[in-house]
Amino acid sequence: MIIAVDGPAASGKGTLAAGLAQHYGLPHLDTGLLYRAVGWAVRAIDDGPAFEAQAIAAAKALDAAHLSNLDDLTSADAGIFASRVAVIGEVRVAMRRYQRDFANQPDGAVVDGRDIGTVICPDADVKLFIMADSKVRMERRARQLENRGLSVDRYTLYHQIEERDARDMANPHGGFYKADDAHLLDTTLLDIEASLRAAIAIVDGTMARKAGS
Ligand code: C5P
Repeated sequence: MIIAVDGPAASGKGTLAAGLAQHYGLPHLDTGLLYRAVGWAVRAIDDGPAFEAQAIAAAKALDAAHLSNLDDLTSADAGIFASRVAVIGEVRVAMRRYQRDFANQPDGAVVDGRDIGTVICPDADVKLFIMADSKVRMERRARQLENRGLSVDRYTLYHQIEERDARDMANPHGGFYKADDAHLLDTTLLDIEASLRAAIAIVDGTMARKAGS
Protein backbone atom coordinates (compact mmCIF):
# COMPACT_ATOMS: atom_id res chain seq x y z
CA MET A 1 0.00 0.00 0.00
CA ILE A 2 1.34 3.42 -0.95
CA ILE A 3 0.09 6.35 1.15
CA ALA A 4 0.84 9.85 -0.17
CA VAL A 5 0.71 12.65 2.40
CA ASP A 6 0.94 16.24 1.15
CA GLY A 7 0.47 19.62 2.75
CA PRO A 8 2.07 23.00 3.37
CA ALA A 9 4.95 23.88 5.70
CA ALA A 10 4.48 22.79 9.32
CA SER A 11 1.02 21.35 8.63
CA GLY A 12 1.90 18.28 10.69
CA LYS A 13 2.12 16.01 7.65
CA GLY A 14 5.54 14.64 8.70
CA THR A 15 4.33 13.64 12.16
CA LEU A 16 1.17 12.13 10.68
CA ALA A 17 3.10 10.27 7.99
CA ALA A 18 5.47 8.83 10.61
CA GLY A 19 2.47 7.76 12.70
CA LEU A 20 0.78 6.11 9.72
CA ALA A 21 4.02 4.33 8.82
CA GLN A 22 4.28 2.94 12.33
CA HIS A 23 0.61 1.94 12.43
CA TYR A 24 0.74 0.04 9.12
CA GLY A 25 4.34 -1.21 9.45
CA LEU A 26 5.48 0.64 6.33
CA PRO A 27 8.72 2.51 5.61
CA HIS A 28 8.43 6.30 5.61
CA LEU A 29 10.16 8.88 3.42
CA ASP A 30 10.10 12.58 4.34
CA THR A 31 10.83 14.14 0.94
CA GLY A 32 11.18 17.61 2.49
CA LEU A 33 14.43 16.32 3.97
CA LEU A 34 15.77 15.66 0.46
CA TYR A 35 15.11 19.26 -0.59
CA ARG A 36 16.53 20.51 2.70
CA ALA A 37 19.75 18.55 2.12
CA VAL A 38 20.16 20.03 -1.36
CA GLY A 39 19.32 23.54 -0.12
CA TRP A 40 21.76 23.15 2.76
CA ALA A 41 24.55 22.13 0.37
CA VAL A 42 24.20 25.41 -1.58
CA ARG A 43 23.11 27.71 1.24
CA ALA A 44 26.15 30.00 0.85
CA ILE A 45 25.63 30.68 -2.88
CA ASP A 46 23.62 33.69 -4.11
CA ASP A 47 20.79 33.23 -6.62
CA GLY A 48 22.02 32.99 -10.22
CA PRO A 49 23.41 30.47 -12.73
CA ALA A 50 26.11 29.15 -10.34
CA PHE A 51 23.46 28.56 -7.68
CA GLU A 52 21.28 26.61 -10.10
CA ALA A 53 24.17 24.53 -11.44
CA GLN A 54 25.41 23.64 -7.95
CA ALA A 55 21.91 22.81 -6.75
CA ILE A 56 21.33 20.48 -9.70
CA ALA A 57 24.71 18.81 -9.08
CA ALA A 58 23.86 18.37 -5.37
CA ALA A 59 20.45 16.88 -6.27
CA LYS A 60 22.06 14.40 -8.66
CA ALA A 61 24.64 13.38 -6.05
CA LEU A 62 22.13 13.07 -3.19
CA ASP A 63 22.13 9.84 -1.20
CA ALA A 64 21.11 8.71 2.29
CA ALA A 65 24.47 9.78 3.73
CA HIS A 66 23.51 13.41 3.13
CA LEU A 67 20.37 13.10 5.25
CA SER A 68 21.90 12.38 8.64
CA ASN A 69 22.68 15.95 9.68
CA LEU A 70 19.22 16.31 11.25
CA ASP A 71 19.93 19.20 13.62
CA ASP A 72 20.83 21.45 10.69
CA LEU A 73 18.39 20.00 8.16
CA THR A 74 15.32 20.37 10.36
CA SER A 75 16.06 24.02 11.24
CA ALA A 76 13.81 26.84 10.04
CA ASP A 77 16.65 28.21 7.90
CA ALA A 78 17.05 24.88 6.12
CA GLY A 79 13.34 25.06 5.22
CA ILE A 80 13.96 28.37 3.47
CA PHE A 81 17.08 27.01 1.69
CA ALA A 82 14.98 24.01 0.58
CA SER A 83 12.28 26.19 -0.93
CA ARG A 84 14.96 28.11 -2.94
CA VAL A 85 16.18 24.94 -4.68
CA ALA A 86 12.69 23.43 -4.95
CA VAL A 87 11.76 25.93 -7.71
CA ILE A 88 14.52 24.59 -10.01
CA GLY A 89 12.89 22.10 -12.38
CA GLU A 90 16.05 20.02 -12.90
CA VAL A 91 16.48 19.62 -9.15
CA ARG A 92 12.97 18.17 -8.92
CA VAL A 93 13.55 15.84 -11.88
CA ALA A 94 16.88 14.64 -10.42
CA MET A 95 15.14 13.63 -7.20
CA ARG A 96 12.12 11.90 -8.73
CA ARG A 97 13.70 8.48 -9.15
CA TYR A 98 14.89 8.34 -5.52
CA GLN A 99 11.37 9.11 -4.31
CA ARG A 100 9.62 6.72 -6.71
CA ASP A 101 12.02 3.86 -5.97
CA PHE A 102 11.33 4.34 -2.27
CA ALA A 103 7.56 4.37 -2.79
CA ASN A 104 7.63 1.27 -5.00
CA GLN A 105 9.12 -1.08 -2.43
CA PRO A 106 7.33 -4.46 -2.38
CA ASP A 107 5.07 -3.71 0.62
CA GLY A 108 4.66 -0.05 -0.24
CA ALA A 109 5.51 3.05 1.79
CA VAL A 110 4.28 6.26 3.31
CA VAL A 111 5.75 9.25 1.47
CA ASP A 112 5.18 12.83 2.55
CA GLY A 113 5.90 16.12 0.82
CA ARG A 114 4.25 18.60 -1.52
CA ASP A 115 3.79 16.85 -4.86
CA ILE A 116 3.54 13.22 -3.82
CA GLY A 117 -0.11 12.64 -4.74
CA THR A 118 0.13 14.75 -7.89
CA VAL A 119 3.58 14.01 -9.42
CA ILE A 120 5.60 11.39 -7.53
CA CYS A 121 2.90 8.79 -6.79
CA PRO A 122 -0.19 9.74 -8.81
CA ASP A 123 -1.42 6.14 -8.43
CA ALA A 124 -1.00 5.98 -4.63
CA ASP A 125 -3.61 3.79 -2.92
CA VAL A 126 -4.55 6.56 -0.49
CA LYS A 127 -3.83 10.28 -0.73
CA LEU A 128 -4.12 12.72 2.13
CA PHE A 129 -3.80 16.49 1.95
CA ILE A 130 -3.12 17.96 5.40
CA MET A 131 -4.08 21.55 6.17
CA ALA A 132 -3.98 23.73 9.27
CA ASP A 133 -4.38 27.43 9.96
CA SER A 134 -1.04 29.25 9.48
CA LYS A 135 -0.85 30.59 13.05
CA VAL A 136 -1.46 27.09 14.39
CA ARG A 137 1.25 25.75 12.07
CA MET A 138 3.68 28.38 13.34
CA GLU A 139 2.92 27.53 16.97
CA ARG A 140 3.40 23.80 16.39
CA ARG A 141 6.74 24.37 14.66
CA ALA A 142 7.81 26.77 17.44
CA ARG A 143 7.11 24.12 20.08
CA GLN A 144 9.00 21.48 18.07
CA LEU A 145 12.04 23.75 17.93
CA GLU A 146 11.73 24.70 21.61
CA ASN A 147 11.53 21.03 22.56
CA ARG A 148 14.94 20.69 20.92
CA GLY A 149 16.27 23.42 23.19
CA LEU A 150 16.28 26.13 20.52
CA SER A 151 15.02 29.64 21.20
CA VAL A 152 12.29 30.80 18.85
CA ASP A 153 11.25 34.25 17.64
CA ARG A 154 7.60 33.58 16.74
CA TYR A 155 7.27 36.69 14.59
CA THR A 156 10.24 35.65 12.42
CA LEU A 157 9.05 32.04 12.30
CA TYR A 158 5.57 33.08 11.18
CA HIS A 159 7.04 35.15 8.34
CA GLN A 160 9.40 32.34 7.35
CA ILE A 161 6.42 29.99 7.04
CA GLU A 162 4.51 32.60 5.01
CA GLU A 163 7.55 33.14 2.77
CA ARG A 164 7.80 29.40 2.15
CA ASP A 165 4.05 29.09 1.50
CA ALA A 166 4.26 31.93 -1.04
CA ARG A 167 7.30 30.49 -2.83
CA ASP A 168 5.84 26.98 -2.82
CA MET A 169 2.46 28.14 -4.16
CA ALA A 170 4.17 30.04 -6.99
CA ASN A 171 6.49 27.15 -7.87
CA PRO A 172 6.10 26.67 -11.63
CA HIS A 173 7.54 23.13 -11.43
CA GLY A 174 5.54 21.88 -8.47
CA GLY A 175 2.28 20.04 -8.19
CA PHE A 176 1.67 21.72 -4.86
CA TYR A 177 -2.05 21.40 -4.78
CA LYS A 178 -4.50 18.84 -3.52
CA ALA A 179 -4.88 15.99 -5.99
CA ASP A 180 -8.51 15.55 -7.08
CA ASP A 181 -8.64 12.15 -5.38
CA ALA A 182 -6.87 13.26 -2.17
CA HIS A 183 -8.74 13.41 1.14
CA LEU A 184 -8.52 16.80 2.84
CA LEU A 185 -7.71 16.60 6.55
CA ASP A 186 -7.80 19.93 8.40
CA THR A 187 -5.92 19.47 11.68
CA THR A 188 -6.35 23.04 12.98
CA LEU A 189 -8.52 21.89 15.88
CA LEU A 190 -7.00 18.42 16.31
CA ASP A 191 -4.06 17.30 18.43
CA ILE A 192 -1.58 14.71 17.13
CA GLU A 193 -3.51 11.70 18.42
CA ALA A 194 -6.84 12.90 17.04
CA SER A 195 -5.20 13.76 13.68
CA LEU A 196 -3.68 10.29 13.48
CA ARG A 197 -7.00 8.62 14.34
CA ALA A 198 -8.69 10.65 11.61
CA ALA A 199 -5.98 9.75 9.08
CA ILE A 200 -6.18 6.04 9.94
CA ALA A 201 -9.98 6.15 9.54
CA ILE A 202 -9.52 7.67 6.06
CA VAL A 203 -6.93 5.06 5.05
CA ASP A 204 -8.98 2.13 6.37
CA GLY A 205 -12.17 3.48 4.80
CA THR A 206 -10.51 4.02 1.43
CA MET A 207 -8.90 0.58 1.39
CA ALA A 208 -12.17 -1.09 2.45
CA ARG A 209 -14.06 0.70 -0.33
CA LYS A 210 -11.42 -0.34 -2.87
CA ALA A 211 -11.55 -3.95 -1.68
CA GLY A 212 -15.35 -3.95 -1.99
CA SER A 213 -15.50 -2.42 -5.47
O1 C5P B 1 8.25 19.48 4.15
P1 C5P B 1 9.32 20.48 4.48
O2 C5P B 1 8.82 21.67 5.19
O3 C5P B 1 10.49 19.85 5.15
O4 C5P B 1 9.85 20.97 3.05
C1 C5P B 1 10.84 21.98 2.91
C2 C5P B 1 10.69 22.62 1.54
O5 C5P B 1 11.08 21.68 0.53
C3 C5P B 1 9.27 23.05 1.16
O6 C5P B 1 8.96 24.35 1.62
C4 C5P B 1 9.29 22.96 -0.36
O7 C5P B 1 9.81 24.14 -0.90
C5 C5P B 1 10.28 21.83 -0.63
N1 C5P B 1 9.63 20.55 -0.95
C6 C5P B 1 9.23 20.33 -2.24
N2 C5P B 1 8.68 19.14 -2.61
C7 C5P B 1 8.53 18.17 -1.72
C8 C5P B 1 8.93 18.38 -0.37
C9 C5P B 1 9.46 19.59 -0.01
O8 C5P B 1 9.36 21.23 -3.09
N3 C5P B 1 8.03 16.99 -2.10
